[in-house]
Amino acid sequence: MSGAATAAAPACYRVQPGGRIAGALSVPGDKSISHRALMLGAIAEGDTHISGFLAGADCLSTARALEALGVRIARPQETEVLVHGVGAQGLRGPATALDMGNAGTAMRLFTGLLAPQRFNSTLIGDASLMRRPMQRVVVPLAMMGAQIHTHDGRPPVEITGTPQLRAIHYSLPVASAQVKSAVLLAALAAAGRTSVTEPAPSRDHTERMLSAFGVELEREGRSVTLEGGQTLKATRVAVPADFSSAAFFIVAACLAASPSLTLTNVGVNPTRTGLIGLLRRMGADIRVRARTAAGSPGGEPVADLEIRRSQLQGITVTAAEVPLAIDEFPVFFVAAACATGETLVRGALELRVKESDRLAAMAAGLGTLGVENRLLPDGLWIRGAEGLRGGTIDSRGDHRIAMAFAVAALRASAPIEILDVANVATSFPGFVATARAAGLGLAAL
Ligand code: S3P
Repeated sequence: MSGAATAAAPACYRVQPGGRIAGALSVPGDKSISHRALMLGAIAEGDTHISGFLAGADCLSTARALEALGVRIARPQETEVLVHGVGAQGLRGPATALDMGNAGTAMRLFTGLLAPQRFNSTLIGDASLMRRPMQRVVVPLAMMGAQIHTHDGRPPVEITGTPQLRAIHYSLPVASAQVKSAVLLAALAAAGRTSVTEPAPSRDHTERMLSAFGVELEREGRSVTLEGGQTLKATRVAVPADFSSAAFFIVAACLAASPSLTLTNVGVNPTRTGLIGLLRRMGADIRVRARTAAGSPGGEPVADLEIRRSQLQGITVTAAEVPLAIDEFPVFFVAAACATGETLVRGALELRVKESDRLAAMAAGLGTLGVENRLLPDGLWIRGAEGLRGGTIDSRGDHRIAMAFAVAALRASAPIEILDVANVATSFPGFVATARAAGLGLAAL
C-alpha cells in the first residue's frame, strides 16, 4: 500500500485563549470501523472496497500488518482502499514481528485473528502499547485452545498458531469491544457455536460488519453467538466520520459556538454516542439529523450534528454510562471543568489502561489550569471553574489528552501549550487544520 508516509508530526501545540467556534466541518473516518473493514476484507473472498477510510497511523499499522501476512492492499486515494481478500485460509506467516504501533485495537483484534492460523506470529508495539494489558484477550482465547504467550500479561504477544479452536461461551468480566471482537474473530475459525456475553453494551461494529460480510450471527440481549466455519463475502464499506474525533468539536461548540457548529456525516451508532446523552443532561443543545434511514453499507447509522453554545451544569455519571462514551472522557472532563457545579465520574477504571492513564493525565492537566479536582481510584471529581488558567500540559503521548486540552483553551485566560502531541496522527490526521477551521487559535510547533 503506497502513500503511508505523512509530513513530520509536530512536537507540541500552542493554543491561544478564547475564540469562537462556527461553520460546517467534517472529521476523518472512524478508527474502529476502518480497522475492522481491513481485517474482515483480508479474510473475505473477493475484493472489499472501503471509502471514507481513516488514513491515521493506527489503521495504517493494521494495513501494513495485513500486507506482511500476504494480503494485497491498494490505496488509490487517501481515504479509498481496496483489499484483495485471501479467504479464511489464505493468510501467510509473517517474516518478522508485526508492529501495531500505538494501536491497542489492532493488537487485540489481531490476537484473535491470528490465534487459529497455521503459522506462528509475534505482535509488538510502541512504548505505550507495550505497557498495555493483553491478558484480557489471552484468557478467553486460551479457553478456546489457543496458545499465546505474553510477558506478565503485556506484549510482546507470541502466538503459536492452533488451527481448529474450540467454541466457548464466554462472559466478559469488563465491557470491552476489543475483547469481544477478538473472541468473535477467533470463533470464525473454531468448531461449533461460540457466544460472548457482556456485562454492559460495548461498541458493536464487529457484529454489524460481520453481518455486512455475510456472516450469520445471533444477537440477543447482551449476547452474540456465531457458528465457526462461515465464509466472509467481500463487500463495500462506507466508513462514517469518527464520533470520537467529532467529540472534541461537539464539546468545543458547547463551550463557544457562535452561532452554531455543524459536523457532517458522523457515525452515530448508539453504542458510541453516550457523550451526547451526558452533555444533554448537562444542558447542551445538540441536534441530530439522521442522514440515511437504513444507515451506511457497513450497517452503521450516520447523521449531521448541529451544536449551539450553552451553559453546562455538572452531573454524576454512573458506571453503566461509561462504556458508551469510553473514549470521550478526556474531552468530557474539559466540559465538566467549564460547567457550573460539580461533576462526578465513577466506575471508569478502564480509563487507567488506555493509551495513557487518562484519569491521572486529566487530573494533572486540569490542576495545571486551576481546576479543582480529585483523582479517585476509578474516576474523577471536578468542580467547574468560571475560567481556566493557561499553562503547559503533558499529554503523555496520548492523542485524546492532547486534543482535549486544545479545546480547553476556549475558556482559558492565557495560552495553553500541549507537549508530546505526535500521536494525534494515530486517530486524527489533519487535526490542526480542522481545529483552526473550527475557530481554535491552534499552532503546531
Ligand atoms: C475500541 C474499543 C474500546 C476503545 C478503543 C477502540 C474498538 O476499547 O476504547 O479506542 O475499536 O473495539 P475497549 O473495548 O477495550 O474498552
